[in-house]
Amino acid sequence: TWTPDAFVETTVKELKRKIGQDKVILGLSGGVDSTVAAILLHKAIGKHLHCIFVNNGLLRKNEFEDVLHQYKDMGLNVKGVDASARFLDALAGVSDPEKKRKAIGNAFIEVFDGESHLVEDAKWLAQGTIYPDVIESVSATGGPSATIKSHHNVGGLPDFMKLNVVEPLRMLFKDEVRRVGASMGVDKTLLGRHPFPGPGLAIRILGDITPEKVAILQEVDAIFINGLKEWGLYDKVWQAGAILLPVNSVGVMGDERTYEKCVALRAVESTDGMTADWVNLPYEFLQKTSNDIINKVRGVNRVVYDISSKPPATIEWE
Ligand code: XMP
Repeated sequence: TWTPDAFVETTVKELKRKIGQDKVILGLSGGVDSTVAAILLHKAIGKHLHCIFVNNGLLRKNEFEDVLHQYKDMGLNVKGVDASARFLDALAGVSDPEKKRKAIGNAFIEVFDGESHLVEDAKWLAQGTIYPDVIESVSATGGPSATIKSHHNVGGLPDFMKLNVVEPLRMLFKDEVRRVGASMGVDKTLLGRHPFPGPGLAIRILGDITPEKVAILQEVDAIFINGLKEWGLYDKVWQAGAILLPVNSVGVMGDERTYEKCVALRAVESTDGMTADWVNLPYEFLQKTSNDIINKVRGVNRVVYDISSKPPATIEWE
C-alpha cells in the first residue's frame, strides 16, 4: 500500500540518482504543490535546488511578502522577484480568459529568462505538477473529454531553456501531496491552503484588468478568506475566493445613489477539483461577510453568492 513515508524515501532516492550534482530550478507559487515539490527536491539535492518566487501582481493581499518569508524560514534557497508591473502591462486591455492565461504564461517565461544568472548552467526545471493537472491539460489539447482551460503550468516550455523537466508529484492527487508534505514536516497551515490558480486574480477579474480592480478584489478576497478562518470554516472548504464582475449596479448610501461594482463569492467542496459542489455556508456568516465587504471596500455595493456546481459550471469563472 501507498504511504507518504515510503513515497518520500523512494522519490528522494530516485531524484538523487537522476539529478546527481546538476543544478535544478523551480518556480514556487506559494501553493501546496510547488512547495512540497521544492521540499522533496531540497531533501534530495540540497543547495543544488534554486527556487524563484515571482510576484505577478495577481496574488492575494500580502501573499508575496508573507510566503517569501515562510520559504526562507524553511531553509529553501529562494529568490523573490517582484514583476507585478510587467504582468499588469502584459495584461492591459486583455479580456479574453485564454489570452490572459497566455499573456501570463509568456510573462513568466520572460521573467525566468531575465533571471539568466539563476538559470545559467541549470540542467533541470522542476515543477509541482500533480495528476489532475496532467489529466485536464491532456484533454485541453483535444482529448475526448474536451476540457476547456489551458492550465499554464503544464507544457509549453520555450526552446531556449532546453531544460529537462522533473515533476516528482506527477502521479499524486492533492490529498496525497498534503500527506507527503506532512510527513516531511511542512507547516500545517501551508499544507491546508486552498488551491489557487497560477494566473491568480487575473481570472477572477472578469473583463480587463487594472491595478485598481486588483486592489479592490484583494480587499474583498481578504475579508472573505479571513472570515472563513475566523469562523472555523476554512478547512471545511476545498477552495474559496471572490470574483469581481464586470457589472455595475445601483445602490444607495445615505441619501446618495451609487452605481458601483458587484462581487461574487465562491466556495466549493471537492476532492480533486475535477468535480465540485458549492458549499452551504451559514447564512449568518454570509450576512456578516457581505456587510463587511460593502462597508469596508470602496467601490463595491453588492455581493452575491455563487450556487453553481461543477459540472456544468467550473470552479473559476474564466
Ligand atoms: P476549473 O475552473 O477548471 O478549475 O473548475 C479547476 C481547478 O484548477 C484551477 N485552475 C487553474 N490552475 N492555472 C492553474 O494553475 C489555470 O489557468 C487554472 N484555471 C483553473 C482552479 O482554481 C481549480 O482549483
